[in-house]
Amino acid sequence: MLGHALMNVFPDASFLGHRDVEITDAVSVRKVILQERPSAVINAAAYTDVDGCEDNPDLANAVNGDAPGYLASACSETGAILVHYSTDYIFDGSRMDYREDEVPGPLSAYGRSKLLGELAIQKNTKNYRIIRTAWLFGPHGKNFVDTILSLSKQMPQVKVVNDQVGKPTYTVDLARKTPEIISREPGIYHITNDGVCSWYEFACAFIPNAVPCSTAEFPRKAKRPAFSVLVNSKTTPLRHWSEAVKEYVHLKEAI
Ligand SMILES: NC(=O)c1ccc[n+]([C@@H]2O[C@H](COP(=O)([O-])OP(=O)(O)OC[C@H]3O[C@@H](n4cnc5c(N)ncnc54)[C@H](OP(=O)(O)O)[C@@H]3O)[C@@H](O)[C@H]2O)c1
Repeated sequence: MLGHALMNVFPDASFLGHRDVEITDAVSVRKVILQERPSAVINAAAYTDVDGCEDNPDLANAVNGDAPGYLASACSETGAILVHYSTDYIFDGSRMDYREDEVPGPLSAYGRSKLLGELAIQKNTKNYRIIRTAWLFGPHGKNFVDTILSLSKQMPQVKVVNDQVGKPTYTVDLARKTPEIISREPGIYHITNDGVCSWYEFACAFIPNAVPCSTAEFPRKAKRPAFSVLVNSKTTPLRHWSEAVKEYVHLKEAI
């Protein structure tokens, strides 16, 4: 999903999908980066099925934890900047919000694997930009907006959890912000759309028949943080999520 948005922002870049490179294979990763010698490597690949990671923690750790270290090591060898995306789910949600330097405490296998990835990058290169983001939606991927829009057409009421709060983020806006982050100094950045809401409040912005429910009514395999509000203390904010989702839904209706 994010990879597609990045393709529009970097039209002259080489794009490699899962069929082109298996990022858990350190030898292949090194080979492709040494061949291409890019000035920057942007990694949008991950095992993103949060509940699936609970059943497959080894795969989660291999893709989200170890592979970013292989990318970092090859980037360090060639002098490339590594841009990598991480998640609000590395935090435990016990605070109202999280700055970039807050201590992580993941609640799920997905969150733990993504935190391992951050650490592997920091261990293997100095020239990294780790962009933590949250609640992504956009074209070309399974996402909350598409799921809820489809359910809204199929049933009179759609129950949506009202006790998990976070920051929805449009892949198009995140991708457009990425060149600016590349030009900044190495480090961790929190980039989301502006504004905070619950999943229920998010759904109310684009369907008329959402009804609130609790997380307890909707048991999932992976525990999610109750408050995963990423504070961006380093750069100018993106536009408000409500504007972004309006644009995305409009775009979908036009297709
Ligand atoms: N989605 C969210 O709400 C969210 C929130 C916060 C942070 N993020 C982070 O943002 C980034 C982009 O997320 P997204 O939702 O755009 O991801 P996505 O749509 O799930 O795409 C992930 C891509 O990674 C590929 N991939 C998986 N395993 C791979 C491997 N071993 N080698 C090579 N490619 C592999 C997948 O290919 P296959 O489909 O063929 O496996 C897929 O094309 C990720 O780092 C994610 O952790 C996402």
